Amino acid sequence: MVSSRNTMEADVNHPCMSGQVEVICGSMFSGKTEELLRRIRRATIAKQKVQLFKPQLDNRYSEDHVQSHDSNRLPSTVVGSAAELFERVDDMTRVIGIDEIQFFDERIVDVVQRLANQGRRVICVGLDLDYRGQPFGAMPALLCIAEEVTKLAAVCPRCGGKATRSQLLAVEGQDEASGNPIRVGAKELYEPRCRAYHEAGPAVSQF
Ligand code: TMP
Ligand code: MG
Repeated sequence: MVSSRNTMEADVNHPCMSGQVEVICGSMFSGKTEELLRRIRRATIAKQKVQLFKPQLDNRYSEDHVQSHDSNRLPSTVVGSAAELFERVDDMTRVIGIDEIQFFDERIVDVVQRLANQGRRVICVGLDLDYRGQPFGAMPALLCIAEEVTKLAAVCPRCGGKATRSQLLAVEGQDEASGNPIRVGAKELYEPRCRAYHEAGPAVSQF
């Protein structure tokens, strides 16, 4: 039962109270955010209270919406940290969607676990690999704790094959030396590639 804000324990005897973690991952342009929005819309039709979150870092399309590359969008709350996200979850929320989850630090794993243990459905969406082809942020841990994993792929523009990776494009002003893989952007900075055509560093666009 809900006692006070964010302090409820899981009531395992209640059929509606079995929480779970879902992860939607894959390369850029693979439809991750589209799939998130589809699941959120269905939950809304089922009259479940939903909340969508995204990290402050992702300001590409909109400050206060989760938006796909195809311009579909739903209102979202921007948060600066995993702790802030936890604080902003309402007691009545049944379904939580978190977009661009690769940008949060490792503390997001504990927050996701706690929210699911409270009986909520937590849908985590993010890049499994950075542009170098290395696991991104807390994604490996999230993939391990998830009850359900969906891995999407885009189309490789070079061969038409399954693009499981995100290619960083060779555009001016990139600081390769920092070792930090975070570079917010979209089509001007990235394109999808398959394993065979992916390069770990900046490459020339094939479009
Ligand atoms: P998307 O998965 O919704 O297309 O968004 C991915 C975001 O992550 C986008 O802003 C670009 C950014 N990004 C990085 O910061 N580093 C990377 O290595 C890659 C592949 C993407
Ligand atoms: Mg997206």
